[in-house]
Amino acid sequence: MTLDGQIFVVTGAASGIGAATAALLRARGAEVIGVDRNEAAEFPGRFVRADLSTAEGVAAAAEQVPAGISGLLNIAGVPGTAPWELVLSVNVFGVRDLSRALLPKIADGGVIVNLASNVANGWAARQEDLARFAGAADRQQALASVAGDPEVVGHSYRFSKECVRWLTLATAAENLGRVRVVSVSPGPVQTPILEDFKKDHGRDKVEGAVTLLGRAGRPEDIARAIGFLVDPQAAWLNGTDVCVDGGLSAHRTVSAAAPATV
Ligand SMILES: NC(=O)c1ccc[n+]([C@@H]2O[C@H](COP(=O)([O-])OP(=O)(O)OC[C@H]3O[C@@H](n4cnc5c(N)ncnc54)[C@H](O)[C@@H]3O)[C@@H](O)[C@H]2O)c1
Repeated sequence: MTLDGQIFVVTGAASGIGAATAALLRARGAEVIGVDRNEAAEFPGRFVRADLSTAEGVAAAAEQVPAGISGLLNIAGVPGTAPWELVLSVNVFGVRDLSRALLPKIADGGVIVNLASNVANGWAARQEDLARFAGAADRQQALASVAGDPEVVGHSYRFSKECVRWLTLATAAENLGRVRVVSVSPGPVQTPILEDFKKDHGRDKVEGAVTLLGRAGRPEDIARAIGFLVDPQAAWLNGTDVCVDGGLSAHRTVSAAAPATV
């Protein structure tokens, strides 16, 4: 379906999944406002250079967005090879604070799509911790509160994406009937971040997954799912996650529960 006349803000638009999503939305007639800390070569729309790791950077980006947009796609993210405070600042507070800043500018019936990950599939087991951290009014205090927790500091990427899954539900629940909020959870996707994931999650694990599936995901695989989620045809999809990993999560769940069948 055409997206003529609609405006979408796409973060992480200079690379990988964000760049592929911006190109797909543009090809379907939408206007795209890209946001990234890095400059984008030949971006198909307006481009705002901003660092989403700080509250000031988020506010500066939000200021440049007009009212009446159709959606916000929170795609920018950093891998767990970065310092844990940065991972949580960009992947959790960047997503939360940009969503809060832009919600009043999203037209009724609009949508927010958050990039999560299938590494966050166990998020529901610690909803209370996620709600406390991702909902904290003071981000410095929130960071200080988890500084001694090896489950957070040692697995900052996973924790950050678990928070994204929680924020997706929480933001959807707060905006029922006005703005839909969904997340997308890829497995390994061939983008610059994949090499960092091999260092963070284990080279054998990531390369084994790619071998099992026959290939890594492509940025366009994820962009097409996002393209469906922003479409009015997805109007009843809200407050949930869409796993786009070629079946990797299915394989891992079944092999953990019934190893003899796979
Ligand atoms: N590639 C994968 O295997 C994979 C799997 C699961 C989830 N994801 C998620 O998908 C999203 C997109 O990742 P990608 O694979 O396209 O990686 P990528 O590295 O190609 O793109 C990430 C983009 O985010 C931008 N960014 C990072 N920090 C920023 C900041 N502080 N301010 C503004 N922009 C910032 C980067 O400059 C980059 O352009 C991320 O949230 C990532 O965690 C990726």
